[in-house]
Amino acid sequence: MSNANILLGVNIDHAATLRQARFRDIGSEFGPIVEPDPVAIALLAEEAGADGITVHPREDERHIQREDVRLIREKISTRLNMEMAATDEMLAFALEILPDSICIVPESREEVTTEGGLDVVGNFERIKSIVVAASKAGIVTSLFIDPESDQIAASAESGATHIELHTGAYANAYYRDGRAHELGRLLNGAKQGSRLNLTVNAGHGINYTNIEEIRTIPRLHELNIGHSIISRALFSGISEAVQKMKALING
Ligand code: PXP
Repeated sequence: MSNANILLGVNIDHAATLRQARFRDIGSEFGPIVEPDPVAIALLAEEAGADGITVHPREDERHIQREDVRLIREKISTRLNMEMAATDEMLAFALEILPDSICIVPESREEVTTEGGLDVVGNFERIKSIVVAASKAGIVTSLFIDPESDQIAASAESGATHIELHTGAYANAYYRDGRAHELGRLLNGAKQGSRLNLTVNAGHGINYTNIEEIRTIPRLHELNIGHSIISRALFSGISEAVQKMKALING
């Protein structure tokens, strides 16, 4: 089955990363000199055709901050997808701001960005309890996992309705020998997920080159893309960067 219309979630964390590189110790009370404003980027991304905005507030707020997320929640008109660690603190924040969806990700303080998939098998009860609490509040739940059979099965068992397949290993292998193998794992993972009635998203390391193959993964619902879009935006502006990716996603 080919993909009818794959949606694009734009991850704007890296706009906040750029702001924090200069203004980490200066609060937003300093006004418009505190730039770039991730809220403005989110609104422009939406205007350019993003189907949703993705943010990943971390415990130490080193990129996007909770105040940014509150403002984005208030101002955007598409969907807000919040990536979060499986902690009580982040669950409480999700229940406060009520994003349209959460995507539970593994998180360690040292990593620059999310590195591996979530170990749903090894942390099953904790993850399930967050899925249950978020679902009760009407939030769609997704788990960010490597395309591994046992993780996909455990995700379905947890009650999550969505999975986001981690495309990082494929993206890293793109110019190396393992590329076909990694793509095969994603294809099989997507098929297994959809057999288990999971909605299948994908993300991490997707760019304007590898999207040509990524979009062939069957039954894809949505791609969450950040770094390549924000990078391209430095040259062409966020609107062109989003429009171009939207066009490539659906061929
Ligand atoms: N999806 C998830 C769950 C992520 O953690 C990230 C990285 O923050 C992305 C998608 C986007 O990855 P990239 O910035 O490489 O496009």
